[in-house]
Amino acid sequence: MSASGTSGVGDDFARQHNVNRLGAFVTKAVTLRRRQGNPQPRTVETPAGMLNSIGLQNPGVERVIADMAPVWAGWETPVIVNVAGETAGEFGALAAALDGVPGVAALELNISCPNVNNVLDIGQSVLAAGRATRAAARATELPIIAKLTPAAQEPAQIARACVDEGAAVICAINTVPGMAIDAEARRPVLTRGMGGLSGPAIKPIALRVVYEMARAVSVPIIGCGGIRSGLDAVEFLMAGATAVQVGTASFANPHALLDVIDELEAWLEAHDVSDVRDIIGCAQQFETDVPAPLLEPVEQHAAG
Ligand SMILES: Cc1cc2nc3c(=O)[nH]c(=O)nc-3n(C[C@H](O)[C@H](O)[C@H](O)COP(=O)(O)O)c2cc1C
Repeated sequence: MSASGTSGVGDDFARQHNVNRLGAFVTKAVTLRRRQGNPQPRTVETPAGMLNSIGLQNPGVERVIADMAPVWAGWETPVIVNVAGETAGEFGALAAALDGVPGVAALELNISCPNVNNVLDIGQSVLAAGRATRAAARATELPIIAKLTPAAQEPAQIARACVDEGAAVICAINTVPGMAIDAEARRPVLTRGMGGLSGPAIKPIALRVVYEMARAVSVPIIGCGGIRSGLDAVEFLMAGATAVQVGTASFANPHALLDVIDELEAWLEAHDVSDVRDIIGCAQQFETDVPAPLLEPVEQHAAG
């Protein structure tokens, strides 16, 4: 799958590549109202990655439905719309707006964006993440994917709360909060100060979070973070993911999404794996220091 925000709403991608080869296309985040995003500069390259603080620039949900849903409806590949709200109510309203729209196959809840106020806060709180998921799940028949941040103190607990409240799938991870400083200007490079780190630099963090989450929930996990080759995808599958998303790699190599598919297939063939499911979670069987999370029921947090 494409990782949200790195291949737009798919029209450019579909013009240049066979979009139907993807397992799914995930759109840039959509909000209730149009957003201009943060002022420039809002991206900067870093060692082994990049920082962005786009700030959820998008034309708003109604415009996206009107302009793009008819295009998506013509694709064989399912389209997952990434939605971002600042409150549980906004997540519910977005889910209601997209419910039943032809061309929309699922919703990915962006409760993990570091580049706008409030959204990251939702993703760091068991209670708020659960509420946002519940609001969305009640407003639509569409499957709900909760996309989580590695910045939460206990990401596995957040995942459990989202599943308890109706998430059918977990996606991990969104970008890692970070910063770059311009020494000559003596100020942060990004206008907003901080941004989200992505690319190969975050792959070990993403693998660890996927590994932990696979122990905490029984729903499928989509692995994301620094994947740029078929071998990277294999590692995420072994950690416990059942699908992967490719984001930043597409900026350096516009063909990265399809290359990862080809390389994954070649790796499986070279290693005599006839069914990809045979490697999913295989790294989980080894004793490690990653604890199986001792999770308290979500109700206790709600009560507390
Ligand atoms: C420029 C840019 C924009 C992004 N926009 C979104 C977004 O709108 N919604 C979202 O959930 N994630 C967004 N992300 C995060 C990616 O979907 C992905 O989770 C993250 O970049 C890690 O994967 P990668 O290392 O393969 O890029 C964005 C990432 C980048 C680099």
